[in-house]
Amino acid sequence: MYTHANKLRIAVIPMLAALLLAGCSGPRKASPAVSQAFESVIPKPASAVPAGGIFELTSDAQIITDEANKAAAEYLAERLRPATGFALPVVVGDGSESVHAIVYTTSSDASLGNEGYELSVADKGVRISAAAPAGAFYGGQTLRQLLPAAIESGSVQTQPWEMATGTIRDLPQLAWRGSMLDVARHFFTIDEVKRYVDYLAYYKMNVLHLHLSDDQGWRIEIKSWPKLTEVGGKSEVGGGEGGFYTQEAYADLVAYAQRQHVMIIPEIDLPGHINAALASYPELYCIGKKPEIYTGTEVGFSTLCRKKDLTFKFVDDVVNELAALTPGPYIHLGGDEAAATPKDDYIAFVSKFHEIAKKHGKIMIGWEEIAQAAIDSNDVAQHWHSAEYASMAAAKGAQVIMSPSTRVYVDMQYDSTSKFGLHWAAYIEVDESYNWDPFTQVPGLDRSKILGVETPLWSETITNLDEAEYLLFPRLAGVAEIGWTPSDLRSWDNYKIRLAAHGPRMTAMGIDYYRSSRVPW
Ligand code: ACM
Repeated sequence: MYTHANKLRIAVIPMLAALLLAGCSGPRKASPAVSQAFESVIPKPASAVPAGGIFELTSDAQIITDEANKAAAEYLAERLRPATGFALPVVVGDGSESVHAIVYTTSSDASLGNEGYELSVADKGVRISAAAPAGAFYGGQTLRQLLPAAIESGSVQTQPWEMATGTIRDLPQLAWRGSMLDVARHFFTIDEVKRYVDYLAYYKMNVLHLHLSDDQGWRIEIKSWPKLTEVGGKSEVGGGEGGFYTQEAYADLVAYAQRQHVMIIPEIDLPGHINAALASYPELYCIGKKPEIYTGTEVGFSTLCRKKDLTFKFVDDVVNELAALTPGPYIHLGGDEAAATPKDDYIAFVSKFHEIAKKHGKIMIGWEEIAQAAIDSNDVAQHWHSAEYASMAAAKGAQVIMSPSTRVYVDMQYDSTSKFGLHWAAYIEVDESYNWDPFTQVPGLDRSKILGVETPLWSETITNLDEAEYLLFPRLAGVAEIGWTPSDLRSWDNYKIRLAAHGPRMTAMGIDYYRSSRVPW
């Protein structure tokens, strides 16, 4: 018989059952949004196996770590506090009894290398395990992407902080995963460069190459040659006021980057692209266009003078001071587009630069044209344009960094409507920037010679970080994946779905990215 009481029972019993299920029956199931975050990590992890449940980061959570991983734990806490508003104290301990915690431990699994990590998310807590500090740091970077996009917000967001349960085991395929920022054509402040470092580290990139000098500007204080910045530091493309980094500010930047496992590679472009130095010290000049402050965008008109002893004192002094500011083993000495340098002089210059770098304890990197000189296995060549030079460099024993301009010169426009950028190499849409393989890009190049990938951002058309972001995002994320993820795990069809899911993260970071019509945002 259908009574009022029965009607109530019909309505209430399912409601009670639902509440019971949600409140006290076993682990909760991951919602589609939470599962999607687990499936959408960029760069794609080497292995990620979901377990179907949920861990919720709550206000009582602690970050527990052994001594070895304290720096990684503290960095993660700093990244998670602003949006959650949680205290997230970092506590040294073994975390064996902990619940509601993120626990860092040191792994004895040497196959993880320096940069690999294991991340396991269970319904009671999270564990990050790595054999070295960089790996622990990258485990934390992945954890950020498992949380809702709002975790990247700079102010408190009231919402549940849920992550899908599962296990990730991850390590990179290439050692060198970088980007170059041209701070010479237009100057970028230290704060802008620090933000650039944050972006690289977010995608597990570990190299920031700074193009510190060019025809239009000299950006690093050299105490023994003060006019380089007094004169050469005050110009840029278009006639703006330029700028430069004091050695103190630069050292602070290097330390900032080191904390995020990003190595800064300083580049002084020699023997061409040198007009700003010649305009500062005309006594260095002997041929080519008479040195005056230059704010245009032509290339290939300036050169150092091989006949002058002063030239080599200048290079030695500059490398000496830069080497002292550089904890890493590399220094980049340019070598590209030296059209105003006679070929014999060019070859002699590169040999001399190699010796000077070595004298100051550094490995020389040069753009691929250095392959014409007597380089060897102690040098690194950066491929940008000529497969022939890249192959020649490898045949001489040099390691090669892959920066093909038709793929990863992110100063190239996406298409003819792009508001910034050039297109002398190509228009590069997001899929074209992703769809290539560093191991096959230059046919015949021995796999063992490929050190990694680097995406240069030249700054003829961009004057600040906002403008840079339009060209960088989202292509930077794809280049990071090319460097990190094993080539056979990558596909554009899978990547574009993850990239679309990633859009709200870039938005939460305040990045105004290019909304390519080839990505299903
Ligand atoms: C370059 O694009 N000139 C290395």
